[in-house]
Amino acid sequence: MIVAVDGPAAAGKGTLACRLAERLGFAYMDTGLLYRAVGLAVLRRGVSPGNGEAVVEAAHGVHAAALADPMLRSEIVGHIASQVAVIPAVRAILLTCQRSFARYPPEGTGGAVMDGRDVGTVVCPHAECKLFVTANLAVRAKRRVNELRERGMPAIESQVLAKMHERDRRDQERAIALLRPAEDAFILDTSEMNADVALSMALAYVAPKVSSRMSLHARDQGCRSERS
Ligand code: DC
Repeated sequence: MIVAVDGPAAAGKGTLACRLAERLGFAYMDTGLLYRAVGLAVLRRGVSPGNGEAVVEAAHGVHAAALADPMLRSEIVGHIASQVAVIPAVRAILLTCQRSFARYPPEGTGGAVMDGRDVGTVVCPHAECKLFVTANLAVRAKRRVNELRERGMPAIESQVLAKMHERDRRDQERAIALLRPAEDAFILDTSEMNADVALSMALAYVAPKVSSRMSLHARDQGCRSERS
């Protein structure tokens, strides 16, 4: 079973997706981290994010261990990630890895919760649950500033807001896999909500779908063992 959680930066989707996965006993994948890992590799190699060939080469060199690098969470890496994410060949490389996680989540989990920009539209268009988590730009910028300051990083709100606006535009206007809600997504605007309220709203949408899927699965298993 797949739960897709898409939305713009700092809308609260990461926290929400992680908590949902915990509550459901599902595996969690932050797909943005993959794009960030390519962004960081590009930064370290001193390559321009606009140099498609060099970026693709960097993307091929990214391994699982790179996903633990604390630099991945920096603002600069987020911006480069959004730039490399417009390159179709980069998206194709990362798509394989995302789909295989969704299809074969780690053993012992009941499914996967995947957060990103295009999970419900491109990566897993057949996901059983699709959430599109959003919030207005000013609220998102404020949240990002607080997050950065909590991590001891300096942050100027007007600059964070301008950069976030630029990133939203690039993510929404790129030629492929653009950031937009799937037609069948449940839209959750968290502008006026704290994380607990957002979680209960999301669970109210997801939980009935999970239990009906689980009971169907249990019924199928029952039929199979009766037949054997
Ligand atoms: O979710 P994030 O802020 O960590 O993502 C960083 C960038 O990666 C984002 O601006 C666009 C890109 N991205 C993407 O294009 N598709 C995804 N599924 C996830 C992230």
